[in-house]
Amino acid sequence: MKESTHGGNVYAFREQMADRQKTILDFSANINPMGPEPHAYQAALDAFPSIIHYPDPQNTDLYKVVTHKWKLPSDMILFGNGAAELLYVAIHGSQCKHILVPAPGFSEYEEAGLAYGLQAQYFSIDVKNTNVYQRINYEELDTVLSRIGEATIVCLGNPNNPDGSLVDPDKVAFLARKYSDCLFLIDESFIEFTDQKTSMRPYCKDLDNLFVLHSFTKCYAVPGLRLGMLLGKASVLNQWAKQVPSWTVNRLAQVYGAAAIGQDEYIQKSRLYIDKERQYLYESLQAESVISMCQGSVNYLLGQLQGVWQNQLARLQSGLAKSGILIRSCQAYRGLGQGWFRVAVKRHEDNKILVACLHEILTT
Ligand SMILES: Cc1ncc(COP(=O)(O)O)c(C=O)c1O
Repeated sequence: MKESTHGGNVYAFREQMADRQKTILDFSANINPMGPEPHAYQAALDAFPSIIHYPDPQNTDLYKVVTHKWKLPSDMILFGNGAAELLYVAIHGSQCKHILVPAPGFSEYEEAGLAYGLQAQYFSIDVKNTNVYQRINYEELDTVLSRIGEATIVCLGNPNNPDGSLVDPDKVAFLARKYSDCLFLIDESFIEFTDQKTSMRPYCKDLDNLFVLHSFTKCYAVPGLRLGMLLGKASVLNQWAKQVPSWTVNRLAQVYGAAAIGQDEYIQKSRLYIDKERQYLYESLQAESVISMCQGSVNYLLGQLQGVWQNQLARLQSGLAKSGILIRSCQAYRGLGQGWFRVAVKRHEDNKILVACLHEILTT
């Protein structure tokens, strides 16, 4: 069995709860707090009887909505069972020898690289910089790339998980041109929660070595359904597609995705809601004398316990667990360490509960 290093494991969390009937407030997974898009959700429910057939192997309806929405030819798009599957496909397909990943960053980049025998190298994200646009040091990235020299896949989170830093598209494009035998994988799994001005989707058309990874599980709030997409050069995707088994996107994900993608008003409303709640959470947690929060850009925030609490994250987590609250420890992330944690931005009533419980634990 593969050991999970991620948040959102409500199944294991429930197993450990004294009262297993208690409602869980999962702040460890970063999912749109507005919940699934209602019309698409209904469409998926209505489609349930059709699971007696295989899914459409061509993903026809998904291609229709995505090509229309982003004005991209269908051969530049590959769908998969969540962004996570396509990450493995890209890393394996790239045939690179090295993988360059952000520290801190989504752990699956490195895990996927190691699974295919790539050597991991790191570049740092300055999570304490209050400007989310200035956390990547492009000179450092350039230096590391020139040292490694060849056959490297560079993973960049845009926004980066766990801190919400955003790329400078022109600087990334400059590096992609300079290191044309390296492959740049821009993970835009949370981009819908931003104004999307830093999206590198438009660059895929001109840069043969730049690919954009996209998840539909976060912004459309269906991590249990699994749907992701990879954008990039048609001939390369065509090769990589050969590694993806038929029917990797299930029927309900196809129906839900085709109905949800393009519901721009739902995304817009979610963004406004999240921006307000992120500010509320940031200010409320920052007000605790033993917490230092990092500025964020999306539906999660990174913070660190300070002073006497710095090495007491487990105590805080178990205190919160008594109220059914799950937060994400980030202590194992490269570049972070003791006391670091991440919380998702949820609905106001839930955020208020988190703030109150944290305050009580930290002050008694
Ligand atoms: C940065 C990042 N990319 C990709 C994924 C995987 O997304 P999906 O649910 O579409 O597989 C995650 C999941 O947490 C993530 O945090």
